[in-house]
Amino acid sequence: MPHILLDQVSKSFKGATIFENVNFAVEKGKIYGIIGPNGSGKSVLFKLICGFLFPDHGRVIVDGEELGVNKRFPSDFGIIIDRPGYIAGKTGFDNLKALALIRNKISDDKIKQTMRLVGLDPESTQKVKHYSLGMKQKLAIAQAIMEDQQTLILDEPFNALDADSVENIRNLLRKFKEEGRTILLTSHNQEDIDVLCDEVYRINRFKLEKVKK
Ligand SMILES: Nc1ncnc2c1ncn2[C@@H]1O[C@H](COP(=O)(O)OP(=O)(O)OP(=O)(O)O)[C@@H](O)[C@H]1O
Ligand SMILES: [Mg+2]
Repeated sequence: MPHILLDQVSKSFKGATIFENVNFAVEKGKIYGIIGPNGSGKSVLFKLICGFLFPDHGRVIVDGEELGVNKRFPSDFGIIIDRPGYIAGKTGFDNLKALALIRNKISDDKIKQTMRLVGLDPESTQKVKHYSLGMKQKLAIAQAIMEDQQTLILDEPFNALDADSVENIRNLLRKFKEEGRTILLTSHNQEDIDVLCDEVYRINRFKLEKVKK
């Protein structure tokens, strides 16, 4: 049984087709890259997989359970899609702490350790509204990984990162894969796709087309 399965998924918005009868199977322990031009449906695909949107037809099945039927959201997913709604007047740590309290699974130390891992200073008193773009991106990565989520859905995770930070996050994702975690990512930088992904799919004519590596 695939970890994630899209079975004949169709989705359109006000008559504009985005996906038509898409079949897509994700196995555990691999890195998948999704590519396609602006507006082709990469973020919509990830929203369907995360249960933020539902297909018009077809099913999205995670670990054998159909989203919207057996369960609302997949469990244990770390997600970056669009910019998360941070509390602008709080520090990065306080924002992550507020998110961590939802599940109450991890300690303050774990939050701080994760912030260091992505290149943020957990002791900084700087408020998120004064964060640079790259710092906000690192905070988004931190929230997606801080609870050791086993499946990572990362929409443009490398956006706004400097070269060293890109290398750092690439290495982190490689380590997660070695640990058996599953990662889906998008990037407009072909190099990210080439060096990281085991399987690459391109959105073409409302379908996911496997790209030969
Ligand atoms: N909630 C929505 N309501 C109406 N249209 C939507 C909605 N979400 C996405 N769309 C449309 O679906 C299409 C695909 O959008 P999507 O955000 O998935 O593109 P993308 O491939 O992620 O693009 P980019 O590379 O710019 O991030 C776009 O035309 C967009 O306008
Ligand atoms: Mg997008």
